[in-house]
Amino acid sequence: MSTPSTSMSETTAIVGVGNIGGTLARHLVGGGEPIVLAAKDTTGPQALARELGPLARAASVEEAIGGADAVVLALWLDAMRELISRHAPLLEGKVVIDPSNPIGFDENAQIIRTLPDGQSAGSVVAALLPAGAHYVKAFGTLSADALAGGANREPRRAVLFYATDDDAAATTVERLIRATGFDPLRAGGMGDAERIQAPGGDLHQFGLNGELVDLDQARAAVGALITSADRTPR
Ligand SMILES: NC(=O)c1ccc[n+]([C@@H]2O[C@H](COP(=O)([O-])OP(=O)(O)OC[C@H]3O[C@@H](n4cnc5c(N)ncnc54)[C@H](OP(=O)(O)O)[C@@H]3O)[C@@H](O)[C@H]2O)c1
Repeated sequence: MSTPSTSMSETTAIVGVGNIGGTLARHLVGGGEPIVLAAKDTTGPQALARELGPLARAASVEEAIGGADAVVLALWLDAMRELISRHAPLLEGKVVIDPSNPIGFDENAQIIRTLPDGQSAGSVVAALLPAGAHYVKAFGTLSADALAGGANREPRRAVLFYATDDDAAATTVERLIRATGFDPLRAGGMGDAERIQAPGGDLHQFGLNGELVDLDQARAAVGALITSADRTPR
């Protein structure tokens, strides 16, 4: 288990407790972070909160967002659009963390891209938020299995990339990434959000041959695109 967080008073809401939200809930509690869980139906959040103990509680979506400093929207993109349009005023002043990828499935269960080429899920979500929200793209760069199994890796922690234009959001998400048992690395601003999403992002796990990278490898990968003309083999 990782070292407990030093910011014990700050609460993180996780809306959606499926593959990503449930995994983050476990990791954040393991790292000492207080969390509040919400979903469409409160049964799942209540059961998970009971399992995780005193640092976790369940609430309605409105209560969870209203009482939190940071909000992880662990939802599919369409559900996230709908939820933001319904609760936008509540997100004013909050750090909003978005793990979504523009992924869907066709009639043959094959992965398809749900947004046009060149458009990131982050740009879509950020545009829906109130002006005072602090948006950051994070926690969507690994498969749910890798996110669950890759925490607190030894001897070197694995990296979770994030992208934001907002320094307050960066500070919060770095604390939360460390609490989950990973090292944080900023891939860039919102103009770089596409690099950390799937399909197609070179810094997403799927763009890194399925590998989890440590901080040195991650820094090299972030710079690789910028310096591709003179990059050395790695
Ligand atoms: N799965 C992965 O490997 C993976 C990896 C990286 C990023 N991501 C991204 O992470 C996001 C979540 O993926 P996931 O696999 O965790 O999805 P998931 O397992 O299907 O979980 C989605 C959760 O959202 C809840 N939900 C749906 N509509 C809601 C609403 N209106 N209000 C509140 N809660 C609602 C669902 O609750 P109910 O069950 O009650 O409907 C469920 O708990 C997606 O955007 C995905 O692109 C996923």
